[in-house]
Amino acid sequence: MSSVTTTHAPKGLEGVVATNSKICYIDGDRGVLAYRGIDIHELADHSNFEETCYLLWFGCLPNRSELQDLRKRLAEERHLDPAIIEFLRKVPKQALPMDVLRTAVSALAFYDPDQKKNDHDANINKAIRLTSQIAMIVAAYDRIRKGKNVVEPDRALSHSASFLLQLNGTKPSSIAERALDIALILHADHELNASTFAARVTAATLSDMHSAVTSAIGALKGPLHGGANEAVFRILQTIDREKADPVEYVRNMLAEKKKVPGFGHRVYHTEDPRATHLRAMSRDLGKSSGQAKWYEMSEKIERFVKAEKKLNANVDFYSASTYPTLGIDEDLFTPVFAVSRISGWTAHVIEQLDDNRLIRPRAEYLGPEYPNHYVPMDQR
Ligand SMILES: CC(C)(COP(=O)(O)OP(=O)(O)OC[C@H]1O[C@@H](n2cnc3c(N)ncnc32)[C@H](O)[C@@H]1OP(=O)(O)O)[C@@H](O)C(=O)NCCC(=O)NCCS
Repeated sequence: MSSVTTTHAPKGLEGVVATNSKICYIDGDRGVLAYRGIDIHELADHSNFEETCYLLWFGCLPNRSELQDLRKRLAEERHLDPAIIEFLRKVPKQALPMDVLRTAVSALAFYDPDQKKNDHDANINKAIRLTSQIAMIVAAYDRIRKGKNVVEPDRALSHSASFLLQLNGTKPSSIAERALDIALILHADHELNASTFAARVTAATLSDMHSAVTSAIGALKGPLHGGANEAVFRILQTIDREKADPVEYVRNMLAEKKKVPGFGHRVYHTEDPRATHLRAMSRDLGKSSGQAKWYEMSEKIERFVKAEKKLNANVDFYSASTYPTLGIDEDLFTPVFAVSRISGWTAHVIEQLDDNRLIRPRAEYLGPEYPNHYVPMDQR
């Protein structure tokens, strides 16, 4: 009897349910995204990133002292071994932040006090540590590559405010802090997206948290996943530089059968609920920071692509016009995605390891028919 239960795999595993999970609920037809059952709109309106991390890692909202404790632990973990800073100084000047982040996160394992442990509590410790460290690496590398000093973290600040301080060298306004905080909440988890699946597959071999997160960062980098936000902004910049008409520019892309980054989604058949918030943020921050042009171009493109292709903007489309208003450079957009998604990746790794079985699917074989015999070299 064959051990294969499904013979035909839909391309890209579309619609395949590959695991059980209690973390993230998505209804792609109704445009619903919820963490532990709580709608993303409620979290974006009322929560903060630290509380969202607690929700993802521990399964429920914290009480006041639990939240205070997690804030304290995250703040205390704002520390990088000098060897990591040294590594950031030594990478080639043209190294892309996402590649630097991937390699640095792998190296963090050498200095992690729980490196050799893979139990639940050790992985919670690593989740907290990695969340603080990833934000620090992204900020520190950006400053190092620009020839600026590495800014010391302020442990009295929130995660978002401390990241912006370490990135820009000045304490952010409360508006900027809240905007980044909402963006981090919106990006924190998204069920079995490509990078989270990669993290779970790695974790399921009983490898370790740092390996799983390194796998995830590699997957997030691609332009079909987290890399889309950078691709969106490059298009906006080109349109701006060439003084092109945004609609004509995108019309040409479609005529050349190119995909427009920031549109379409494997799961959502209606508006991506995260885009609703990011659109409003892009509009408001664009206006208040004197950079409204990015939002104005984006809005025209969105209207056109929706009418022409019936495609909705996804999470990456309006994050691209939001981040520059916070002093975040274009090639940091995807690393900033990781600054948030580390919370979801680690929650999924912990969930995977709490009830683990090796993830090892099958492939439908389409190669030369068996048996296909070996032919000696002089007879080929
Ligand atoms: C997200 C994405 C990878 C989902 O891919 P998918 O589920 O495999 O869907 P497909 O790529 O098979 O697209 C289905 C159809 O819609 C079209 N389409 C999907 N996204 C498109 C886009 N952004 N621009 C233009 N056409 C698009 C495809 O060309 C295809 O058309 P066809 O059937 O005529 O060939 C895809 O929409 C995409 O590449 N978007 C741009 C990148 C992006 O924003 N990624 C971030 C996702 S959060």
